[in-house]
Amino acid sequence: MAPKIFSGSSNKKLAEKVCAASGLTLSPLEITVFSDGEKRVRVVDSVVGQDSVVIQSTAAPVDSNYMELFFIIDALKRSGSKSVTAVIPYLGYQRQDHIFRTGEAVSLDVVVKALETAGATKVITFDLHTIKIPELFRIPVAHLSALPLFAKQVESLKSKVESQDIVLVSPDMGGIRRIKLISEMLGNMPYATIVKNRDLVSGHVEAASVDGKVLKRAVIVDDMISSGKTVVAAAQLLRENGAEDVFVMAAHAVLSGNASELLQNSIISKVIITDTIDIPKEKQFPKLEVISIADMIAKELKNL
Ligand code: R5P
Repeated sequence: MAPKIFSGSSNKKLAEKVCAASGLTLSPLEITVFSDGEKRVRVVDSVVGQDSVVIQSTAAPVDSNYMELFFIIDALKRSGSKSVTAVIPYLGYQRQDHIFRTGEAVSLDVVVKALETAGATKVITFDLHTIKIPELFRIPVAHLSALPLFAKQVESLKSKVESQDIVLVSPDMGGIRRIKLISEMLGNMPYATIVKNRDLVSGHVEAASVDGKVLKRAVIVDDMISSGKTVVAAAQLLRENGAEDVFVMAAHAVLSGNASELLQNSIISKVIITDTIDIPKEKQFPKLEVISIADMIAKELKNL
C-alpha cells in the first residue's frame, strides 16, 4: 500500500511537489500554535497499520521546526502508524556532529536521539556535511545527494561555452570528496581546492590559497551556503587567480543574516541551489536559481 504523506510547516511547497511526483495526495495535519509559542499537532485521518512519511526541513527556525517534527512523529506513532519515515531534506545541527572545543555539546547527537525516541523508523536526507553522520543513527538513513542535478547543470554550461575553460572548485579542504565525486560524474573534469581558514569565534573566513589550476570559468560546489562568506571569499580568490566567471552550486541555501545581499553584491554570476530549504521571498535575489529534489525523494519513497 502507498504510504501516507504528511508535511510539517517548514517546506510545504516541496512536500506538495513530492506528492505530485509520486501521484499521491498530502494527508491533513492540524498544527496549532498557541500564543506562548507552543505547538499542538493532531493527525486527522486514520493511519492504523500504515506506513507514514513526514517531510520537514529543519532550517530556521531550527528548534521550532525540530519540535514540530518530533510531535508529528509522536502523533503518527500514537495513532497506530506501522512506520514513520522522516524526510529531512536539510538536517539542522549537522555541523555540530562532534566536539570541536573542550566543553561543547554534540548537538546533532541529541537531535538524533530525540528523533529516534519520538518514533522515527527511517530518515531520508540530503547532502550531509560529512558521510559519517548516518553512523550517529541507530535507524536506517538514506543519504541522498543533489550532485547528479548539479552535474547536469555543469553539462548544460559546458554546452554553451568552451568546455575546456571550466574548472570545478571546492571552497575548502572538507569538500574534497564532494568535488572528486562530481568530477567523476562529469568524466573526470578538472578540479581545484581552496584552503580556507575560519575563525570559530568571530566567524571570519579567509580563502588563503588555491590548490590546482584556475581556469576562465569556475564552478564552486558546496554542501551549504549559510552566511555566504565561504563562497564569496572563494569566488574573490578565484577572480584574483584569473577566473572571469564564477558560478556557485550548493544543496542547502541556509542564507543566514545578510547572506542574500552578500551573494547578490559579489562577483559570483549565478547561485544554483536546491529546494531542501524553502527560501522566503525576502531572501530571494536575482542571481539565485532553484532546482528541485522532489523527484529524487519521490523515487526514494518507492523503496519503503
Ligand atoms: C563548511 O565546511 C561547509 O561545507 C560550508 O562551506 C559552510 O558551512 C558554509 O558556511 P558559510 O556560508 O557561513 O561560510
